[in-house]
Amino acid sequence: MGLVGPGFVAAHHIDAVRRLGDVDVVAIAGSSQASAEKKAKDYKVERAYGDFHALIADPDVQVIHNTTPNYLHLPVVMAALAAGKHVISDKPLAMNTEEGRKMRDAAVAAKVAHVVTFNYRGNPLVQQARGMIARGETGGVNFVHGSYLQDWMTDPNVYSWRSDPAKGGATSALGDIGSHWCDLAEHISGLKIASVLADLTTVIPVRHSSGASAEAFAAKGGGERTPVKVESEDLASILLRFENGAKGCFSVGQVLPGHKNDLQVEVNGAACSLKWKQEQQNELWIGRHNQPNAVMAKDPSLVSPEVLRYVHLPGGHQEAWADAFFNLLSDAYGWIREGAAPGAKPEMLPTFEDGYRSACLVEAMMRSHVAGGAWAEVKHVANK
Ligand SMILES: NC(=O)c1ccc[n+]([C@@H]2O[C@H](COP(=O)([O-])OP(=O)(O)OC[C@H]3O[C@@H](n4cnc5c(N)ncnc54)[C@H](O)[C@@H]3O)[C@@H](O)[C@H]2O)c1
Repeated sequence: MGLVGPGFVAAHHIDAVRRLGDVDVVAIAGSSQASAEKKAKDYKVERAYGDFHALIADPDVQVIHNTTPNYLHLPVVMAALAAGKHVISDKPLAMNTEEGRKMRDAAVAAKVAHVVTFNYRGNPLVQQARGMIARGETGGVNFVHGSYLQDWMTDPNVYSWRSDPAKGGATSALGDIGSHWCDLAEHISGLKIASVLADLTTVIPVRHSSGASAEAFAAKGGGERTPVKVESEDLASILLRFENGAKGCFSVGQVLPGHKNDLQVEVNGAACSLKWKQEQQNELWIGRHNQPNAVMAKDPSLVSPEVLRYVHLPGGHQEAWADAFFNLLSDAYGWIREGAAPGAKPEMLPTFEDGYRSACLVEAMMRSHVAGGAWAEVKHVANK
């Protein structure tokens, strides 16, 4: 594999790929030759390119991992697809629906593997919950709700490409982490969101930039700072209507002190409720009306057979974010080994179709907010 964009999340792509054991990390492309060489040295990767086109042209690279800032997803993905290479792109796939649709259509036409790292799908208890709902154990789905809250942007001195609409997109928190929540809500419930009503807020309208783009979650540096007006939201609350008539709601924010990576999804049916929290990801809460509530541990002796391949340790041995990320990439490379045949794609693996859908959801939320909080339909155009 070759990786373009060696920043915060890139290290986790490289770790996960190395854990597969039979995939070589051949090259890294950075924003300059010097930065690529530094990162290649840090990650013990042999080749470094200052231009991603050179990495894509490298005949030894068969799979491109795209971990660049959002505005570079389109050019990197389109160049990789044009070269007939498999692409694993981080989320959000696209800055808007037009870009998302273009990448989805080009990927399907190229007949290569196309994957978006909605990595929370790789958690064993997420798959457990999904299976229980699909088998009818919750008695259908009446309500899907939760939140994705972080605090790393609470300090106005944190400024990165994420707050710059030209580089991050018109939306900030919704595209960055709301995309994960919506993907997870649809994936677990098995239902599609049909329409949304959104209320977006910018809690910190002026940030102070040091000129350098801070890595996500990185401590701020010192020095001179310039005030920058921020237009995109750092807090949002959304009401949801699902296709089957189920209702839902969620909030996202990145300026909420104390919330580190606080992603929670709960589904309520007629028979029971299921709740999964990312920060306690080895437990699944099962709520009941007529019996005591229960907490199911991530334990190979307890999970359903189809979930076993995501469980690597016995019960009580905590598995975490990086293990779920590995599970997703393991499925991605499983698909690649099968020549990316459409029928060989593991069902849970998110593709550019899901990346495009995510852009459609965010676009509907923006449309709803601009209309003053009116219901907006999700417009998702199928691939021809
Ligand atoms: N799946 C997840 O949970 C998750 C987590 C974090 C980030 N992400 C996504 O991953 C992407 C990167 O986020 P990040 O937090 O790692 O950002 P980052 O700013 O830490 O890293 C981006 C890297 O891209 C490099 N870059 C910039 N221009 C380049 C160019 N022309 N060619 C090659 N490299 C270039 C930057 O120098 C930097 O090293 C974003 O789309 C983000 O939404 C996903």
